[in-house]
Amino acid sequence: MSLKKLSKLDATKNIINKETKLSENDFIISKTDTKGNIIYCNEIFTKMAGYSASELIGANHNLIRHPDMPRLAFKVAWDLIKNKKEFFGYVKNLSKDGGFYWVFTYITADLDLNGKIISYTSVRRKAPQSAIDTIAPIYKLLVDAEKKGGIDASAKILNSYLQENDTTYEELVINLQKGV
Ligand SMILES: Cc1cc2nc3c(=O)[nH]c(=O)nc-3n(C[C@H](O)[C@H](O)[C@H](O)COP(=O)(O)O)c2cc1C
Repeated sequence: MSLKKLSKLDATKNIINKETKLSENDFIISKTDTKGNIIYCNEIFTKMAGYSASELIGANHNLIRHPDMPRLAFKVAWDLIKNKKEFFGYVKNLSKDGGFYWVFTYITADLDLNGKIISYTSVRRKAPQSAIDTIAPIYKLLVDAEKKGGIDASAKILNSYLQENDTTYEELVINLQKGV
């Protein structure tokens, strides 16, 4: 008997405004196969997401995708990690009960001896409140733009925001983490 793997289609549609905060010293860790299916997660991951490890292993990582997250963020992430570059970014994740938790995320590819991507690893820690306060309204603009004009529309908005602030995506993320 093969068990059905969970994906974002199985996540609750009942989104609630209930935030869970990560502790200062917590690290949420997961590994996926090359398609983003979870192959490892640590205990704090199961605690924050509200799923058991057996529900998570084999599930696509988009199970915890929150509707407030712009598609653009994941496009940026996948474009980088598929090219063996590191991704840093802020992610609002969806818990099983419909609540949410913010994280500062790092994702990178794991390579075999021949340099072939065999899996991906992600490490997340608490995002500073000041970073969340800055990024949440930007994500809202991007999500709204995507509803009307897709990812091209949100990319335009992000690029003009970066230009107006004379910064790059990488610089913005790092400065927000430093609380600048
Ligand atoms: C190692 C790794 C960790 C990821 N962690 C998350 C995460 O915590 N939350 C999330 O929404 N997506 C995460 N993703 C991205 C998902 O694979 C997916 O691209 C995203 O949820 C959007 O899914 P969708 O395009 O099917 O809506 C991760 C991907 C990888 C490779």
